[in-house]
Amino acid sequence: MTLGSRPDKGPDTVIEATGVSHRFGPDAAFPLVLDDVSLTVCRGEFVILTGPSGAGKTTLLTILGALRRPQSGVVRVLEQSLATADDRERQRVRQRIGFVFQDHHLFDELTARETLLLAMDLHPGRYGPAERAAKPREWLRELGIQDRENARPHQMSTGQRQRVAIARALVNDPELILADEPTASLDAESAGIALDCLKQAALSGGSAVVMISHDPRHHVLADRVIEMRDGRVWKA
Ligand SMILES: Nc1ncnc2c1ncn2[C@@H]1O[C@H](COP(=O)(O)OP(=O)(O)O)[C@@H](O)[C@H]1O
Ligand SMILES: [Mg+2]
Repeated sequence: MTLGSRPDKGPDTVIEATGVSHRFGPDAAFPLVLDDVSLTVCRGEFVILTGPSGAGKTTLLTILGALRRPQSGVVRVLEQSLATADDRERQRVRQRIGFVFQDHHLFDELTARETLLLAMDLHPGRYGPAERAAKPREWLRELGIQDRENARPHQMSTGQRQRVAIARALVNDPELILADEPTASLDAESAGIALDCLKQAALSGGSAVVMISHDPRHHVLADRVIEMRDGRVWKA
């Protein structure tokens, strides 16, 4: 089994964000979408971010994932300060993160197996032929879609596509997993499988998981549920 194969290494504090504010515009005429948000997440933690639509959850996740530059505040992710990092350093941080977006963002031409191999190619020299042969299959099995190995997105159900996207996020044993409503398109059974995989990654792989979810049934899985409203941390 591939889950938890990542060597037990890396920093204990995976995310350390202090006083993060953000607005989509150049000046104070634009509203604060994030207003003085602080958050610490440690290795092995499964944190759920919840709150109403428009609260700033996705914006926060993209800042933590080095997909958007913080405008103010201090953001340290995997021991890298994201505000001061150059493009190369930010890219290196992103390589250590597994992303799952609301929309699966799979490529039409690629089979499930090829999708996972493309993700593995982001780490040149890391995998030998045996791992390239075995790992995609193992992860697709973990997600319960081993029989879809050679299927392309248009041949899969919405739920199967999203499970490929989750397998792609996990295949490189990331130290941090950032997931934006990853199970919104899944039926209850598929959602259960996907959440088990994310939870296992946190528990046995020593990763940290930050997942956005509105579904109160998921909240019992989390070590911590953080509620956001109007760009602020409401309850943590
Ligand atoms: N790229 C953008 N440009 C302008 N406004 C945006 C952009 N992305 C999000 N917003 C606005 O920022 C606010 C927070 O959005 P978002 O972070 O997506 O919230 P959530 O994920 O909690 O629903 C919303 O008012 C949204 O309309
Ligand atoms: Mg969102």
